[in-house]
Amino acid sequence: MTWGKRGDMIVHSADPLNAETSRAALGEHELTGVDAFYVRNHGPVPRSRRGGWRLRVDGLVDRPLELSVAGLRDGFARHEVVAALQCAGNRRVDLLRVRDIPGELPWGPGAAGNARWTGARLADVLAAAGVRPGAGHVAFLGADVSVQASPPQPFGGSVPLAKARCPEVLLAWAMNGEPLAPVHGAPIRVVVPGYIGARSVKWVERITVQAGPSDNYFQATAYRLLPPGADPATAGPADGIALGPFAVNASILAPGENARVPSGAITVSGYALAGGDRSVVRVDVSADGGRSWCQACLSPELSPWSWRGWRATLELPPGPAEVIARAWDSTASVQPEDPAQLWNPKGYANNAWTRLRLTVVPAGDGHPGR
Ligand code: MTE
Repeated sequence: MTWGKRGDMIVHSADPLNAETSRAALGEHELTGVDAFYVRNHGPVPRSRRGGWRLRVDGLVDRPLELSVAGLRDGFARHEVVAALQCAGNRRVDLLRVRDIPGELPWGPGAAGNARWTGARLADVLAAAGVRPGAGHVAFLGADVSVQASPPQPFGGSVPLAKARCPEVLLAWAMNGEPLAPVHGAPIRVVVPGYIGARSVKWVERITVQAGPSDNYFQATAYRLLPPGADPATAGPADGIALGPFAVNASILAPGENARVPSGAITVSGYALAGGDRSVVRVDVSADGGRSWCQACLSPELSPWSWRGWRATLELPPGPAEVIARAWDSTASVQPEDPAQLWNPKGYANNAWTRLRLTVVPAGDGHPGR
């Protein structure tokens, strides 16, 4: 494992690099360390060309711009946003247990992370360029060419103009106070809080203001929720539902999967995320299959775009146990129970209840593996 990442990353593919954060590392801090943050790539990390990097802003604008890193950093106000990123494939592994999903990576709950991003507001850059009437979407294009796309092309995507103008959307050059790492999009990446990670385009070189969504493969064909009967091999542009804001989600991080824990009071903890402009308002925990629930304590909200840590203490008798958690967001939406109802051919957007199996041993017995 390279790119300055910890040894406990779970590597799903080495080339392109795709690696998720371990549950243990996710639970360590409210902000995920850069050395533990998940990596999702569709092509090779482009060679660094910080000095020669230029960002073009074009399309339906009065004044097309060409910005250097210094031009972006010095020409626009600097802002910080704590925001979670979550890949649309986060927790796909639970969908794979329902039915096979050929060709897609088996992400567990670690294709998500929380970081402090520093950069310029996309809104300020768009205002400098002057958005013209008829604009409806803002498209981003990265410097990495993906052969996974058909035909091969740079990674791209778009968001509606209204979202692009929101103050939380950044062109970021730093992550957790450190210069953005090459594998996370240096010198500049887009950060779109509340949207699937695919819209936070790394190594961004071009921003185009346009009437409709991007026709890039990763917007028009991939990252779309197909109906269960569809064949992804033959699905074309505009089939299925384009993914944007993600739905409320949560995961249990500790104790570890299949841990042996002593009976009595057992603390269970994890993260919860709300997408769009919603926030996490409650997390419920059950040890009896969802017949009864207790409410977890939520950690303070670092920002409206941050995830929230949660913890609950349960009394569990000796024997096999299953702990379930579900989060609610500020629109009173709750995670659905069953991943079988959510299964889709590309395995996106699994936000079913999160479950953890444990073995509870009589107190006093050794409990290795906790
Ligand atoms: N941007 C580019 N240029 N190339 C990519 O492959 N992957 C996207 C997004 N931006 C990607 C990209 C996806 S699917 C996700 S989930 C996030 O980056 C992951 O960001 P990270 O690797 O910094 O965690």
